[in-house]
Amino acid sequence: MASPKIIVFAGSIRSGSINEKLAVAAANALRRAGAKVSHISLKDYPLPLYDGDLQAREGIPAAARNLVELFFEHQGVFVASPEYNASFPPLLKNTFDWMSRINVEGRPPLPAFKDRVFALGAVSGGAMGGYRGLTQLRTMMELGLGALVLPDMVAVGNAATAFGVDGSLANERTRDFLDVVVKKLVDVAGRLS
Ligand SMILES: Cc1cc2nc3c(=O)[nH]c(=O)nc-3n(C[C@H](O)[C@H](O)[C@H](O)COP(=O)(O)O)c2cc1C
Repeated sequence: MASPKIIVFAGSIRSGSINEKLAVAAANALRRAGAKVSHISLKDYPLPLYDGDLQAREGIPAAARNLVELFFEHQGVFVASPEYNASFPPLLKNTFDWMSRINVEGRPPLPAFKDRVFALGAVSGGAMGGYRGLTQLRTMMELGLGALVLPDMVAVGNAATAFGVDGSLANERTRDFLDVVVKKLVDVAGRLS
């Protein structure tokens, strides 16, 4: 079986993002688990706020099309999402909304989200580690986008002390749990490749 290809990105483009740190840790864990990893930043896929008039006038932006094409080349995706007011950030909603408007002839709707597997993680300063935001992100992805999302979600609290100097997760149990989740992601993605 060929190594599954997995995209990793954070739902934040802030310099110094704690979720980008989790994305780095997840990318490293995925490589150790045998995946081919494409670690991207949504900074490289800038999109205007979704507006139906804009879409009618100018079509779907190239960045959304490029992301969909990239998703097609991968069997799995790991998203590290900040929690904003007990939900997930508008950057992710807007990006997925634009991507969801793309149809491909001969394929069922929402082609970027179907036929691949997603795993979710979050980091926040609080004790709950962004878990509330992840439940909302999961709901949107499963019900709205038809995505297969792994049940286990890596919620990392107390961000200030969560990462060691080498960028790995400082807490052994959390580190082990990330390994468990990425192994499942690689396993399911491998069956889709
Ligand atoms: C609009 C907004 C809402 C936030 N709401 C929450 C929240 O509900 N729960 C939480 O733990 N942190 C919340 N935070 C704090 C973020 O977790 C924190 O800013 C984090 O660093 C953002 O992720 P990033 O570092 O990856 O950009 C919020 C931050 C912003 C800007």
